[in-house]
Amino acid sequence: MGSISEQKPHAVMIPYPAQGHVNPMTKLAKLLYSKGFHITFVNSEFNHKRSLRSRGPHALDGLPNFRYETIPDGLPPSDADATQHIPSLGQSIRNTCFDASLKLLRRLQSSASAGHAPPVTCVVCDGVMSYSLKAANALGIPTVSFWTASACGFVGYAQYRYLVDQGHVPFKDESYVTNEFLDKKVDWIPGIDKLRFRDIPSFFRTTDRDDFMLNHFIEELEAAHEATMIIINTFDEFDQSSLQYLSSIYSPPIFTIGPLPLLLQQIPHNHSLMSSIGSNLWKEDTHCLQWLDSQESSSVFYVNYGSITTVTSDQLTEFAWGLATSKCRFLWVVRPDLVEGRSVIFSKEFKEETEGRGLIVSWCSQEQVLNHPAVGGFLTHCGWNSMTESLCAGKPVVCWPFFAEQQTNCRYACVEWGIGMEVGPVVEREEVRRVVVEVMEGSSEKGREMKEKALEWKKKAEAATRPGGSSYQNLEKVLDMLLKNFN
Ligand code: UDX
Repeated sequence: MGSISEQKPHAVMIPYPAQGHVNPMTKLAKLLYSKGFHITFVNSEFNHKRSLRSRGPHALDGLPNFRYETIPDGLPPSDADATQHIPSLGQSIRNTCFDASLKLLRRLQSSASAGHAPPVTCVVCDGVMSYSLKAANALGIPTVSFWTASACGFVGYAQYRYLVDQGHVPFKDESYVTNEFLDKKVDWIPGIDKLRFRDIPSFFRTTDRDDFMLNHFIEELEAAHEATMIIINTFDEFDQSSLQYLSSIYSPPIFTIGPLPLLLQQIPHNHSLMSSIGSNLWKEDTHCLQWLDSQESSSVFYVNYGSITTVTSDQLTEFAWGLATSKCRFLWVVRPDLVEGRSVIFSKEFKEETEGRGLIVSWCSQEQVLNHPAVGGFLTHCGWNSMTESLCAGKPVVCWPFFAEQQTNCRYACVEWGIGMEVGPVVEREEVRRVVVEVMEGSSEKGREMKEKALEWKKKAEAATRPGGSSYQNLEKVLDMLLKNFN
């Protein structure tokens, strides 16, 4: 290998193997690559195969200094084009990932000794991949814990230990999870005054002290103490109180380096090869972008629930008729696995009612869609990538949180950032119709304010990611720390 490669710092990037984690990790990998790093990007074998199926046989060829590796996730081999069951995936990773990461890192170190790649400078692990973080620590390699979800969600998860210690969790039985309980204010977190119990990430709602997701997050948040640094995909002004709180409970320095879609725009893409690095696990429909081109400015309402959310047949029907009766134009992404255990079927009446003004596809290039001038509003499940991508595009959100920290994101979008309004979990067509009209036609003051706020936050996010902005500077600080011992 050439001498230039030998001089490069080498970052090994290990995302949690799900779309909402692979995407931001890929963006970060591109940033580090553009700053001169040799990248080893580690996919699960399952996701590696899916990427090749959805994006073609050369999708993971990479570049000379951007290489892919795989580790097993421990689940039985499968050709399914759907997100794996999250608790099963989590349990399996817990059993397999420490050894798999250790083996991979040792192999990369041997490869470096043999002069085939630069020595590993750092390992960047997803904030919920502590097994890989521990493997890197065992080898004495500096680690970055990359929290890909929101800072407010991080704060929420950080309460799990306290909730257990205080005897709130586990619940004695299901009847304890009443509205009265969920509406109680969370009043013990310094500087945080907007949260109710219902806004805490959903996995604490259990009657089982041994519940996997509850303990998983307790352990993952404890493991973050062992990282050299923690980085978060947000920007300081957006999440000030959450960041202050997190800095008060963690000793590793915390850096905000987001929103990543905007920070990435600051990097001059001086060779088109960079665009060959993608991260989609589903095959993208491109026709919807052409369809958007033919629509008027801000005339299309966009609906997408990310990669994991599922809905019931009844909820799907209510969403459908809410969209139909709003009379608005809409682009609706309905994954083939959206309705759990069933294929997705729409009635003849719905199709006739929405013909010509509604387009349904199974997966799209979300960032392109959100940035399209024809899109005026977004109904989202509040996954953090969807939230940040919407923020970067300056589009208001209708929130329908599903699980995890999406409840927390929804709360912040509605009461802290002023960019969102919520539809209830049950889903009723009349409510869906009303919010779509409020956002798209600005028929209420709230609808109009949300649009203005979304544009204001977009400007602030742009400022944070421009040279001199907080996230831009933080990336420089991260690089300084990582390269401190590099020569
Ligand atoms: C989730 C959430 O990030 C988070 O709330 C939780 O902690 C676990 O993971 P997901 O539900 O998939 O991930 O949502 P989101 O964070 O929004 O990520 C989905 C990603 O897929 C986004 O980057 C989005 O742009 C992309 N996407 C989604 C597409 O490109 N096209 C689509 O049609 C749908």
